[in-house]
Amino acid sequence: MSKKILILAGDGIGPEIVAEAVKVLAALQQRHGLKIELEHALVGGAAYDAFGSPLPQQTMQLARAADAILLGAVGGTKWESLDIALRPEKGLLGLRAGLQLFANLRPAILYPQLASASTLRPEVVAGLDIMIIRELTGDIYFGQPRGVRRLDNGERQGFNTMVYAESEIERIARVAFETALKRNRRVCSVDKANVLEATELWREVVTRVGKDYPQVQLSHMYVDNAAMQLVRAPKQFDVMVTGNMFGDILSDCAAMLTGSIGMLPSAALDVHGKGMYEPIHGSAPDIAGKGVANPLATILSVAMLLRYSLHNEVLALRVEQAVQRVLDQGLRTPDIYAEGCRKVGTREIGDAVVAALSV
Ligand code: IPM
Ligand code: MG
Repeated sequence: MSKKILILAGDGIGPEIVAEAVKVLAALQQRHGLKIELEHALVGGAAYDAFGSPLPQQTMQLARAADAILLGAVGGTKWESLDIALRPEKGLLGLRAGLQLFANLRPAILYPQLASASTLRPEVVAGLDIMIIRELTGDIYFGQPRGVRRLDNGERQGFNTMVYAESEIERIARVAFETALKRNRRVCSVDKANVLEATELWREVVTRVGKDYPQVQLSHMYVDNAAMQLVRAPKQFDVMVTGNMFGDILSDCAAMLTGSIGMLPSAALDVHGKGMYEPIHGSAPDIAGKGVANPLATILSVAMLLRYSLHNEVLALRVEQAVQRVLDQGLRTPDIYAEGCRKVGTREIGDAVVAALSV
């Protein structure tokens, strides 16, 4: 039976990088027996411009009906002055919340071919392979009450609420332990339990769930220390699990260890494994339309889509190996360029991946 994949190109470089990922999907369909149907819809600033909403109803309906979603990126300076409820980012947050995509998998892998791209010394990052598991539908991102209120003395006060229910912590903890079982069997849970009650509960629940996984070694770390350890000795980590806001921050930090935010894919999954897949970088309006954006993170997101939502490990590996081959050939977009390599554009590197799929 054919699977429905919704393509949401979004804003900025989104359409350019997604076009390359779609070429990869089309090649898998034509040459490797992948049974899929693609649909396209608008999200983010592009959707706001067309329909006055960053997440139009028809997009949400298609997203609900799809088996998996591939998203480019949303946002841009053009929409920054809009009311917060209408900003492109709300489209993304609405999809995450509306589809209950609570488990965000953000691998940070250093490709050996790109070792010199990291700002950290090679011996600190060589062989780096961390999986950050970020809770994605709770925490201060969605907590109520929130807003800006007027105090008695007349000044305004902004406020947000960090909240986590036991069930929310438990389900993300299980994802982390299950993931660790397939890797190096270590989970580091990151919190701020010395200050915040919400994360004191987080630590308690993760510890309790950990008892069901005696094969996995569990440790806890405060978020400030975790940020420091990530740049000091990142290879100590296997799986890291944390809440929505800490995960947002730590995953950017981890991404940069690899030297190339343009290489990192992500998956956001619901309880059934339905997912939304996107590069972890943003819409990069400064280089949009120039044909120089790196599409590899989006193409690697296709690999995650194949693995987690279509359960097709064979084709997932084929895509990942094709990306490796292209790196071996020395092709580089400007963001990962190093001396001795060949600088190419978005389309050229996408074409090279497509060609490498059939090797
Ligand atoms: C991310 C992004 C988003 C987030 C923004 C665009 C809303 O930074 O996916 O990490 O904060 O979750
Ligand atoms: Mg972020």
